[in-house]
Amino acid sequence: MKVAVVGATGVVGAALLQILQERELPIERVAAFASSEKPEGVSFNGTTLPVHAVSAERLAEFDAVFFASGEDQSATYAPAIAKRGGIVIDNSATFRLQPDVPLVVPEINGETIEAHHRIFPVANCTAIVLCVALAPVREHAGLRAVQVATYQSVSGAGRAGLQELADGEAAVVGEYPEPRPAVFGAPIVRNVVPFVGTAAHDGYTSEETKVREETRKILNQPELRIAVTAVRVPVRYAHSEAVFFETEGTTSVAELSRAFETAAGVAYHAEGIVTPREVEGQDQVHVARLRAQDDSGTRFAMWVVGDQVRKGAATNGVQILELLLKRGWAGAAK
Ligand SMILES: NC(=O)c1ccc[n+]([C@@H]2O[C@H](COP(=O)([O-])OP(=O)(O)OC[C@H]3O[C@@H](n4cnc5c(N)ncnc54)[C@H](OP(=O)(O)O)[C@@H]3O)[C@@H](O)[C@H]2O)c1
Repeated sequence: MKVAVVGATGVVGAALLQILQERELPIERVAAFASSEKPEGVSFNGTTLPVHAVSAERLAEFDAVFFASGEDQSATYAPAIAKRGGIVIDNSATFRLQPDVPLVVPEINGETIEAHHRIFPVANCTAIVLCVALAPVREHAGLRAVQVATYQSVSGAGRAGLQELADGEAAVVGEYPEPRPAVFGAPIVRNVVPFVGTAAHDGYTSEETKVREETRKILNQPELRIAVTAVRVPVRYAHSEAVFFETEGTTSVAELSRAFETAAGVAYHAEGIVTPREVEGQDQVHVARLRAQDDSGTRFAMWVVGDQVRKGAATNGVQILELLLKRGWAGAAK
């Protein structure tokens, strides 16, 4: 199978190359693309891959194409790749909410893939981390309502987000004036910024709307009551979420703990805390500080942390390809 990564010089693209080399997929060739040719290339499996400027012609020979490059490139190139039978795994929001496009988190809803599907959006990173933690709750007791406040790392805004934090930190430590914020709506160093994405018409941000709508689609609960506040924090990698949820049936902390202990993709911490720095580079979603809100038996709270570049983006995309290979729906073109 020949695999292309578009956006290979970015945060998600680099993670995709790393994960493709970590996992044993039947890949004969990996190629890297970006907006323009990069003489320095990118590293893959102990070698340097050349980075080419992306074009429709150059993508034509690949059996599977990962997009980690934004909405425009996915919208431009994905339909033709799908039309010739290639697999598209897309980290942008372009196709996520389209009908008859599955929004797959393999631990939760792999069964939504059908043989004819070719385009596989990877859901919003915050939504993936949230859904991996909510799925065991839904399985065990049903899910009626969710409120979540997020603590999102700067790498969620790509290379530019990481750079803005680094530049701000250098200025604060060096005691010279901080550069004006360009990526985030306010200085991110020694601060939290309660605004992620762009403004939406109803007072929510685009990020908050994505988390709400994509969570409903992944969990197959279009009417789920869910409210989101998305906040950017001066953390490099991994998103954290304070989640308050209400179940359909009555349950207990002990029963929910057992559900988390056996849940796919979840690392459950019965004791202590977990922080984003500890989970950087991991694929599991961590659940800690599970507790009851009151004695109703239906209202609980938990702390959830996951590396959004890995499970929230690159790992989830590679897992989708693995699922397709397992079912015989992806592979080398005949
Ligand atoms: N970062 C996250 O946590 C995260 C999580 C989930 C989803 N995503 C999504 O994943 C995608 C990539 O995000 P990122 O954080 O990795 O961004 P990033 O670090 O800014 O990297 C962007 C990548 O896209 C490439 N690119 C930009 N314009 C291009 C064009 N016209 N043609 C081809 N390639 C182009 C860049 O190449 P150059 O080097 O040539 O500029 C770079 O490789 C976005 O859709 C983002 O929303 C990100």
